[in-house]
Amino acid sequence: MRNLWYESTMHRQIRDKRSDRKRRIGKDIDRYGKDVLASDELKQAFEQTHHTWSTVGEHTLRVAASSVMISYALRKLNIKVNIPAVIIGALCHDLGILGRDTKFENNKECSREHPGESVKVARELIPDLTEHSADIIERHMWPAGQSKAPNSLEGVIVSAADKYSAVKDIVKGSDVKHTGVKNVAHDQAEWLREQSRTQTEKVREFSRELQEKVRDQINK
Ligand SMILES: [Fe+2]
Ligand SMILES: [Fe+2]
Repeated sequence: MRNLWYESTMHRQIRDKRSDRKRRIGKDIDRYGKDVLASDELKQAFEQTHHTWSTVGEHTLRVAASSVMISYALRKLNIKVNIPAVIIGALCHDLGILGRDTKFENNKECSREHPGESVKVARELIPDLTEHSADIIERHMWPAGQSKAPNSLEGVIVSAADKYSAVKDIVKGSDVKHTGVKNVAHDQAEWLREQSRTQTEKVREFSRELQEKVRDQINK
């Protein structure tokens, strides 16, 4: 029979599974993206605002995490995915946008030219960058910015994760720590999360007390 304890056990299992997946994603990104993660370019990326509410750095890490998550799901469907290429592509895809105000005349030019610039940065960071990874980066803007369509499954994954993350940044806002931009949406979401944590703890406490009372009654 379903009761509060059963629900809470189930939710704990889901939480454990999610945090295990998060750990695996982090490990893969650290392993295959170490050159990019240690670069000055990525540090600089956390200083530049992106999609109004985010930074290039935060967006980059979110695109990488979503791309790896999609890759895991596809692998479960027995679809082969080159995860190192996905990670390199995702981590480098927007590095060419750094310094956009001085580098590009306007947004249109930025949207059209930054993938090519990102490939240049990627080649500097990873001397043996494969053409496969370069293509992922070069074509990530599709269907925007007059970009060619991705020519590999990994390219489709990064392009889709990029759009997902961009829409999420713009609509929902994100945890902006480095730009000093006040993120009202994020503050509200954090407040709601805190409220829900408190309520969950209260329900757990109530459930524990109830079980103890029932146990006492049975033992009497
Ligand atoms: Fe981009
Ligand atoms: Fe992007």
